[in-house]
Amino acid sequence: MAALRSMLTLLLLAHLLTFWPASSSSSLTGEHGDREALLAFKEALSDDSGALNSWNASSSDFCRWAGVTCSRRHPSRVVSLSLRYGKMGGSISPDIGNLTFLRRLDLFYNTLSGEIPHTLSRLRRLRFLELAYNSLAGEIPADLSNCSNLVYLSVEVNGLHGGIPSGLGSLSQLQVLYVGENNIVGRIPPSLGNLSVLESLALYQNKLEGTIPEGLSRLRYLRYIQAGRNSLSGTIPPLFFNMSSLQYLGFSSNKLHGRLPPDVGRHLPDLQVLRLGGVGNNFSGPIPSSLHNATRIQELGLANNSFEGRVPPEVGMLCPS
Ligand SMILES: *[C@@H]1O[C@H](CO)[C@@H](O)[C@H](O)[C@H]1NC(C)=O
Ligand SMILES: *[C@@H]1O[C@H](CO)[C@@H](O)[C@H](O)[C@H]1NC(C)=O
Ligand SMILES: *[C@@H]1O[C@H](CO)[C@@H](O)[C@H](O)[C@H]1NC(C)=O
Ligand SMILES: *[C@@H]1O[C@H](CO)[C@@H](O)[C@H](O)[C@H]1NC(C)=O
Ligand SMILES: *[C@@H]1O[C@H](CO)[C@@H](O)[C@H](O)[C@H]1NC(C)=O
Ligand SMILES: *[C@@H]1O[C@H](CO)[C@@H](O)[C@H](O)[C@H]1NC(C)=O
Ligand SMILES: *[C@@H]1O[C@H](CO)[C@@H](O)[C@H](O)[C@H]1NC(C)=O
Ligand SMILES: *[C@@H]1O[C@H](CO)[C@@H](O)[C@H](O)[C@H]1NC(C)=O
Repeated sequence: MAALRSMLTLLLLAHLLTFWPASSSSSLTGEHGDREALLAFKEALSDDSGALNSWNASSSDFCRWAGVTCSRRHPSRVVSLSLRYGKMGGSISPDIGNLTFLRRLDLFYNTLSGEIPHTLSRLRRLRFLELAYNSLAGEIPADLSNCSNLVYLSVEVNGLHGGIPSGLGSLSQLQVLYVGENNIVGRIPPSLGNLSVLESLALYQNKLEGTIPEGLSRLRYLRYIQAGRNSLSGTIPPLFFNMSSLQYLGFSSNKLHGRLPPDVGRHLPDLQVLRLGGVGNNFSGPIPSSLHNATRIQELGLANNSFEGRVPPEVGMLCPS
C-alpha cells in the first residue's frame, strides 16, 4: 500500500514536471519561492547604506545573501533573516509571510515605518521576532497569536498604538515579551497570566491603565517585570511579593497606592531592583524592615510616596559600607 502510494506520488510529480516545469520547480522551493519573497521584502525597504547590495539578480544563491540563513534539510528555504543595525528605512513587506520556514526574524534598530504585517501570522515556525527600535506604527497584530512557537517577541521602542492583544496569552512557549516605549493603551490583559514560562515582561512607558492582573503572580519563572511610566492604578497584588523568581520589579510613575506587606522581603531572595517611586504613585504605611532579607537588592526606589516612620536601620544595612 505504501509502495503504491509513493509510486502514485512519483507519477504525479512526473506529470507536474512534464506539463508545468516552471510552477512545479517553484512549488518545490516554497509556494512562491523564498527568493521572490526576499526580493519583494527588499523592494519595500530603502537601503541607503547598501547593506543589501548582495541581494541582487546576478547572485542567484539567495542563501548567501547578507543576513539570510537557509535550512540544512530544506536548502532553498530561509530559516533566519537578521538585519540588525542595518540603517534600513521603508516598510516590512507583507511578502515576508511567504518565508514559511522562518524561525528567526531580527530587524532590531533600523528606521522601519509602516505597520507590522498581518502575514507574519503565517509563520508558524517563528520562534524569535525582534522588531524593536524602529518607527513602526499601527497596532500589534492580534493574529500574532497564531505563531504558537514564539519564544521571543519584542516590539519595544516604536510608535505602536492600540492595546495588547489578549490572544498573546495563548503563546505557551513565550519567554520574553517586550512592548515598552510605544503608545499602547488599555489594560494589561489578564490572559498574560497564562504565559507559564514567561521570564521577562517589559511594558514601561506606554499609556496602560487599570489594575495589575493578579494572575501575573502565577508566573513562576518571571524574573523581570518593568511597567513603569504608565497609568496603572490600584494596588500591587500581595502575591507579587511572594514570587521568589523576581529580580526586577518596576512600577514607578504610575497611579498605584497601598501598603507594602510586612514580610515583603522574605520571599524575594533574588530581587535586585525595586522601583516604586517616580511621579504619581502614593504608597503609604511603614517601610518594612523585612526588606533587608532581600539581600541582593541594589536599587530601592521608594521616593515621592507617602511612606511613614523612618527607614528601618536593617534596610540601611543593605548599603555596602
Ligand atoms: C506570496 O504569497 C502570496 C499568496 O500565496 C502570493 O500571492 C504572492 O505573490 C507571493 N509573493 C511573492 C513575492 O512571491
Ligand atoms: C551582487 O551580489 C554579489 C554577491 O552576492 C556581489 O559580489 C556583487 O557586487 C553584487 N552586484 C551589485 C551590482 O551590487
Ligand atoms: C489564526 O488562527 C485562527 C484559529 O486558529 C484562524 O481562524 C485564523 O484564520 C488564523 N489567522 C491567520 C491570519 O492565519
Ligand atoms: C488561561 O488558560 C485557561 C486554560 O487554557 C483558560 O481557561 C483561561 O480562560 C485562560 N485565562 C485567561 C485570563 O485568558
Ligand atoms: C508565599 O510563599 C511561601 C513560601 O514560598 C509560602 O509558604 C506561602 O504560602 C506563600 N503565600 C501565599 C499567600 O501564597
Ligand atoms: C517627585 O514628583 C515631582 C512632581 O510631582 C517631580 O518633580 C520629582 O521629579 C519627583 N521626584 C522623583 C525622585 O521622581
Ligand atoms: C497619599 O496617601 C496618603 C496616605 O494614605 C493620603 O493621606 C494622601 O491623601 C494621598 N495623596 C494623594 C495625592 O492621593
Ligand atoms: C530575615 O532576617 C532576619 C534578621 O537578619 C533573620 O533572622 C531571618 O532569618 C531572615 N529571614 C529570612 C526568611 O531570610
